[in-house]
Amino acid sequence: EKGGYDYFMLKEIAEQPKAVADTLLGRIGAEGQLTLDELRIPAQVLKMVDKVVIVACGTAFHAGLIAKYAIEHWTRIPCEVELASEFRYRDPILDARSLVVAISQSGETMDTLMALRHAREQGATVLAICNTNGSTIPRESDAVLYTHAGPEVAVASTKAFLTQLVACYLVALYLGQVRGTKWADEILPVVRDLARIGEEVERVLETMEPVRELARSLAGHDTVLFLGRHVGYPVALEGALKLKELAYMHAEGFAAGELKHGPIALIEEGVPVVVVVPSPRGRSVLHDKMVSNIQEIRARGALTIVIAEEGDRAVVPYADHLILVPATPTLLQPLVATVPLQVFACELATARGNEVDQPRNLAKSVTVE
Ligand code: F6R
Repeated sequence: EKGGYDYFMLKEIAEQPKAVADTLLGRIGAEGQLTLDELRIPAQVLKMVDKVVIVACGTAFHAGLIAKYAIEHWTRIPCEVELASEFRYRDPILDARSLVVAISQSGETMDTLMALRHAREQGATVLAICNTNGSTIPRESDAVLYTHAGPEVAVASTKAFLTQLVACYLVALYLGQVRGTKWADEILPVVRDLARIGEEVERVLETMEPVRELARSLAGHDTVLFLGRHVGYPVALEGALKLKELAYMHAEGFAAGELKHGPIALIEEGVPVVVVVPSPRGRSVLHDKMVSNIQEIRARGALTIVIAEEGDRAVVPYADHLILVPATPTLLQPLVATVPLQVFACELATARGNEVDQPRNLAKSVTVE
């Protein structure tokens, strides 16, 4: 059942190119137009939306954080992302023009379910992004976009996360299409890149041996820090979450711009820091800022593990370990940049003798508070 792999998690990491392709299947037309009629939310309603609120927990929350960058950039609709457990006990301001997106692999997470009930009571339209057919969250939502990751057995989410990202991009692009924002000039080229992204994920998977070796060499450490900016920030959070739950190590993700506001005090000789570097093309100011951040932490003794785009020469002098990922548009980079972090966490857990598929204290589906 593990298809020749030692763990479900390894199998599910390997299945990601297919999961991504399956989630795109039938949803992009020949001319690059999004075909999401399956949502059955009238165009009139989508045109009226004046606020998007994403609610989710854990890894699904990280997908939501990334979606915010895409939604605001491509549609110019303000977007908030909130942990479902916080949202439900607040007094959020919603009305009939609010689109609430609930992201959940299992479709049964209690906090996410309660958050969406709360949203519907206030008249918001609720769209579920879910991997489990017929589960409670899509059943109680106004609309659903299913991710087609297939069953995810390992407790740590991998392929479901990548497909949640794909679904979020599809929703963002579709909103842009329906509302006519930035369509031909920006959205269309991205759709073409998205349509091919499964192949790029496959290429990343083919180059993971050095990442596994690096992970094994760090098994004796007790802290790993992660830094990112823009969409690389949620990727850093996700890398840290994977490491906590699988390797039981102290792992924290930071927005690189926050370094000087506190976290840089944690940097001492030999502490491994994973840095997610945005593409040097396009919005290169982000890239240049990240390169200075790497220099800063390295000058203070950090062991730098740099995830950067193929061909990025600027990072080479400052990377103790360099992990290259294929070039993608900035907003899509999380689809390729997350994969090495999954492999890293899985291998570190194995090296530390942990049970990869069933980490201690965790359950696959959190149906209680
Ligand atoms: C982490 C992980 C959890 C889930 C979270 C939400 O690897 O799997 O953080 O992402 O419990 O679960 P779903 O998506 O089923 O609502």
